Amino acid sequence: PTTGADWAEQVHALARRRNAVVLAHNYQLPEIQDVAHHVGDSLALSRIAAAADADTIVFCGVHFMAETAKILAPEKTVLIPDAAAGCSLADSITADELRAWKAEHPGAVVVSYVNTTAAVKAETDVCCTSSNAVEVVESIPADKEILFLPDQFLGAHVRRVTGRDNIHVWAGECHVHAGINGAELTAKAEADPDAELFVHPECGCATSALYLATAGAVPAERVKILSTGGMLDAARETGAKSVLVATEVGMLHQLRRAAPEVDFRAVNERASCPYMKMITPEKLVRSLREGTDEVHVDPELAARGREAVQRMIAIGR
Ligand code: 13P
Ligand code: SF4
Repeated sequence: PTTGADWAEQVHALARRRNAVVLAHNYQLPEIQDVAHHVGDSLALSRIAAAADADTIVFCGVHFMAETAKILAPEKTVLIPDAAAGCSLADSITADELRAWKAEHPGAVVVSYVNTTAAVKAETDVCCTSSNAVEVVESIPADKEILFLPDQFLGAHVRRVTGRDNIHVWAGECHVHAGINGAELTAKAEADPDAELFVHPECGCATSALYLATAGAVPAERVKILSTGGMLDAARETGAKSVLVATEVGMLHQLRRAAPEVDFRAVNERASCPYMKMITPEKLVRSLREGTDEVHVDPELAARGREAVQRMIAIGR
């Protein structure tokens, strides 16, 4: 069984045997979220990994998240139940492409979203997540040119909020969030005029959400551009009866747990991340039993990326 007390007891007993802590991202399958010691967004999980006193971190998420944990806690064993769980956004820029971009903009500060490989982090000045991207950019002197990568939608959001026009944005995207489009959001918002909108800044529809607010189609205070962790905080405080959620559908599980009285509905029900869903209960058990798959980051690359990741976890709440 992969639900209920037996499932939880099996996982927790195996974890105790290895002195392991099990972390799960908000997009994981519900049965993984329910059994993990901690569930959260990328920023919260990075902070937990950095502070963990367990010998082993089992990261139920995608590969860049486990790599980030290894960079922050190099002395620990970091496991991911399936090392093939990648990320289309992290794949949208290579270290070579970043080096070439930097050469075109000497002196610019490189801000990389945490959804990047360790090799890209090694070329980065400061990392951010969607929770603290605005604060990270605001921590950089306003007269400094910024290279923001790899997500174009998050980059556009940061430019809008900070009002800075010296931010160059890489044209990458997450195929899951890019697929949540403005037409779908507009149709759902029109059909449910009292609903609040929770929109992840990686979404293709983030601009349309703000357009709905400026056009008066949805009152501005009901349109919220939030990270997955921010959505959970907002869910606990919302007075709305229904909320339209524009992000990966795994998020609905935590939202419904946080506020069972609210009707949370996906803007796009097909927005499921195939990489996140590669982490299955069977693979989690195998990982805890057999120590698979161990995540290694080249120590020299890790040393070069560590400061950027440490700055990321120090900024924002
Ligand atoms: P957050 O949990 O930081 O909002 O991340 C979203 C995401 O796409 C991670 O893959
Ligand atoms: Fe990457 Fe998108 Fe999946 Fe997040 S949802 S892991 S950004 S592909």
